[in-house]
Amino acid sequence: MVENNSEQKRMSNEERMELIKENMENIKFKIAIISGKGGVGKSTVAVNLAMKLASTGSTVGVLDIDITGPNVAKMLGMSPELKPQVDPEKMRFYPIPGPLNIKVMSMAFLIDDADNPVIWRGPMKMSATRQFLGDAEWGSLEYLVIDLPPGTGDETLDILQLIPDVHILIVTTPQEVALLDSRKTLKMSLLMDKDVLGIIENMSGYICPECGHKVDLFGKGGGEKASIDFHVPLLGQIPIDPNIRETGDAGLPFIIKNPDSPAGKAFSEAVKKIREILEK
Ligand SMILES: Nc1ncnc2c1ncn2[C@@H]1O[C@H](COP(=O)(O)OP(=O)(O)O)[C@@H](O)[C@H]1O
Ligand SMILES: [Mg+2]
Repeated sequence: MVENNSEQKRMSNEERMELIKENMENIKFKIAIISGKGGVGKSTVAVNLAMKLASTGSTVGVLDIDITGPNVAKMLGMSPELKPQVDPEKMRFYPIPGPLNIKVMSMAFLIDDADNPVIWRGPMKMSATRQFLGDAEWGSLEYLVIDLPPGTGDETLDILQLIPDVHILIVTTPQEVALLDSRKTLKMSLLMDKDVLGIIENMSGYICPECGHKVDLFGKGGGEKASIDFHVPLLGQIPIDPNIRETGDAGLPFIIKNPDSPAGKAFSEAVKKIREILEK
């Protein structure tokens, strides 16, 4: 990120807002992945969505704004040692090209030690989000997938406000507690007049690899109920598959490695629906 030097201090808030506006106008579809709770699969959905879009010919960027838990780079197999190129003259920096030429920007590239916690208060997080959106040279893209921390905190509100035409993708698990929280984020998105693309219900049952029987480990039907209550599409129900965790940890996105598994098919189906909704 561009150092907070005296040059940069001269950039007024208005100037930065103008940069954000220009950058976002160059990107056709901005998709923010949100959830009520952590650990429900947002980052997993973000990287698999990005990989599927890129593998079928779209130009894609991924912005990881989960400042305290930036996992996207690792899930895409990118070393946290990579550093974005900076053009100090123009006060711009360049997202790093990842697999399938996806342009990636994440806090992971900016912290020196992955074990160090990032302890930032609201205004610092807001400033980071604005630099990621405005000072980064995203160029022209069809899709920007934005991975957010859980809940309705600073970063989420900031994204909803800074990108007026952002589309929201809700990730939840099927059980009641995760749903209570994701229903709040869903309601916030609707209240702020944002387009909600739909809900992905993740960890939606476990299919026994031996007998094919489905066990509803985390309950059942919650995503479907929320989709009916709030009149938004249910885009997919992705079962639990140990390969998802393994491929995520190994930095080899699941959807490319296991396209024909039930979870791979559910992911692909969800991406197809997202494309159809956006490109119609
Ligand atoms: N459908 C799934 N089946 C098995 N493991 C999953 C599934 N979805 C996500 N995971 C794993 O669960 C963990 C949390 O997922 P993650 O995408 O990091 O959640 P979040 O970004 O919402 O915190 C990760 O280890 C991930 O690999
Ligand atoms: Mg995450």
